[in-house]
Amino acid sequence: MAKKRVFSGIQPTGILHIGNYLGAIKNWVSLLDDHDCIFCIVDYHAITVPYEPAEMQNRIFDAALGYIACGVDPEKCSIFVQSDVPEHTELTWYLNTVIPVAYLERMTQFKDKSEQFRDNVTMGLLDYPVLQAADILIYKAEIVPVGEDQSQHLELTRDVARKFNNLYGETFPEPRTLIGKAARVVGLDGQAKMSKTLNNYISITELPEEMWKKLSVAVTDPSRKRRKDTGNPDICNIRMLHALFSIEKEQMYVVEGCRSAGIGCLDCKKILSDAISREMAPIRERYEQLKSDRDKILTVLEEGAKRCREIAQNTIREVKKKMGLLR
Ligand code: TYM
Repeated sequence: MAKKRVFSGIQPTGILHIGNYLGAIKNWVSLLDDHDCIFCIVDYHAITVPYEPAEMQNRIFDAALGYIACGVDPEKCSIFVQSDVPEHTELTWYLNTVIPVAYLERMTQFKDKSEQFRDNVTMGLLDYPVLQAADILIYKAEIVPVGEDQSQHLELTRDVARKFNNLYGETFPEPRTLIGKAARVVGLDGQAKMSKTLNNYISITELPEEMWKKLSVAVTDPSRKRRKDTGNPDICNIRMLHALFSIEKEQMYVVEGCRSAGIGCLDCKKILSDAISREMAPIRERYEQLKSDRDKILTVLEEGAKRCREIAQNTIREVKKKMGLLR
């Protein structure tokens, strides 16, 4: 039986953080053996808000390095840069003609970003989800592993697929959103989603000393002011991170210790810091090793793009034929 196709992507906006790792990449790795996986570095998306052109290629390289260091084995999947397969933008145009503007105007990410970049709300920003739909549909992917923040864009992708299929005949499968255990990793402020923009993150290559600096001031249960106060682990983000990194025994120890004031918040954070290091240290080491092998990374991206271009060109031919655009 043919393996189901998986597609996902991340914007090259700087070093990957543990929210990207837990929310997306860790799931990607778990799918490698039994699926036909395609993972993209979505640079076309990253240019929809102000950015520094001189930094773009380094960011793309860093993202590729991050994927591979986290275990996305290029021998088992395709990794490529979106703008190396310009057919994504061609399909975006075709899909633009089937999707009402109102659907795009109600996207929460569009509303948030329009607020953030009030003086520069571009067509690119509005059209962002259609490009995302094109990314997925051009490969006829059936499964899209992402964090919860992408659910609305995935719903739109299914709307686009349905509308296109109704108008021009069955072409695209409606892809399934695959959200893992770490649907929304909260940042060190204990409130907002972990993100680079909010600077509330731990990167995948954070050194233990740096991580400790960040963790030691991370927000916990605000009602626990002194060490002898009992705390409520259910509302503490450090406990949530324990659930994602620590072994059962450590989790029971910190939950019980917090409830009974048996351990302090710093003790709890120390155990978490060790647990994160346990999982992330090999990733950081692989990242450092791979960094010097620039050619290897570039070859992975070239080979990925070659395979993806072929699939994308076939879909474009089919779409043009169905839309009456092929002579
Ligand atoms: P991006 O670059 O914002 O995030 C990449 C992936 O990381 C997940 N993620 C998180 N998951 C849990 N907790 C967090 N704090 C957290 N922060 C980020 C995101 O959910 C995502 O899975 N629009 C997409 C990129 C994209 C894409 C696609 C994704 C473009 N085309 C096609 C899937 C399929 C984005 O901006 O992701």
